[in-house]
Amino acid sequence: MTLRVPHWTPRAPLQRLSLGWLATAGVEVAVLRLDLLDPLICGNKWFKLLPHLAAAEAAGADGLISLGGAHSNHLHALAAAGQRFAFPTVGLLRGEPQDTPTTDDLQAMGMHLHWLGYGGYRARHQAGFWLPWQDRYSHLHPVAEGGAGLPAAQACAAIVEMAQGQLAPLGWADYQGWWLAAGTGTTLAGLVLAEAGRHPVHGALAVPPGQGVESTVINLLAEAGQATGGYRLLDASRGGFARLDADLAAFIDEAQAESGLPLEPVYTAKALLALRREVEAGYFARGTRLLFLHTGGLQGRRAHAGRMQELAVP
Ligand SMILES: Cc1ncc(COP(=O)(O)O)c(C=O)c1O
Repeated sequence: MTLRVPHWTPRAPLQRLSLGWLATAGVEVAVLRLDLLDPLICGNKWFKLLPHLAAAEAAGADGLISLGGAHSNHLHALAAAGQRFAFPTVGLLRGEPQDTPTTDDLQAMGMHLHWLGYGGYRARHQAGFWLPWQDRYSHLHPVAEGGAGLPAAQACAAIVEMAQGQLAPLGWADYQGWWLAAGTGTTLAGLVLAEAGRHPVHGALAVPPGQGVESTVINLLAEAGQATGGYRLLDASRGGFARLDADLAAFIDEAQAESGLPLEPVYTAKALLALRREVEAGYFARGTRLLFLHTGGLQGRRAHAGRMQELAVP
């Protein structure tokens, strides 16, 4: 049965963030809680999936096939969408077969999994990678890792509208910029495109600099015909993607306890810690108002629970 794009328009609240180091610096932050968009199809994922669903419908496909790691937030949201809206999903996974809380969920939500090994997964950008999968699953529409691409970035304009529509109840007439985690840079590029220079976008890199985010953003803006600019990228990776150290673990515990905002160590906590560094260094003038994008990913916290506990031991 051909997939139909569901008429589903979930909303996420914009909430003030209360933290001592923000108050000390006179910087105000409101968080767009995309983690609260939906219990399962949450974070930036729904926005990035929508154009792929539209492309699948246009192609007459029944469902989607995509790629990710054993803790992938993207595959998790895709599997949840497949279950919720009754379309088939297939996940191509990095590495050797393993059971993680995420892969257990993927299977429970009806996603069919194939493990590609590490070498097989590295080949995902090569021409011809998709051919055997398209032969095997001719009724499924392929989606690049993480749901990347210009249509996905452009779909993130809805995030900007969602936040702007909630400024008045906060008593904010305007804001001076966005702050968010960047993994591939797709969401960041989407905000930059939507803002078109009206408000700067600060991207906290979850991966070390030089691993492709810089060029992805430049290429997406160029493909959209927009001049580069209106954003900056800063290293928030703490030396490696998904690397969790004692300072980060302590920061997560403190920030969550003080603000009530749930964080995960790979994206949102690193982004918030990088913001603290900049705020404490005086980067933002007193009176600055920022929108922090909570990009979700809380399902991935389960993979780090043991390490968090280890680091918490004095
Ligand atoms: C929870 C979470 N936040 C942020 C990101 C980064 O988004 P993007 O890849 O669009 O930069 C991702 C995925 O990569 C993610 O899963």
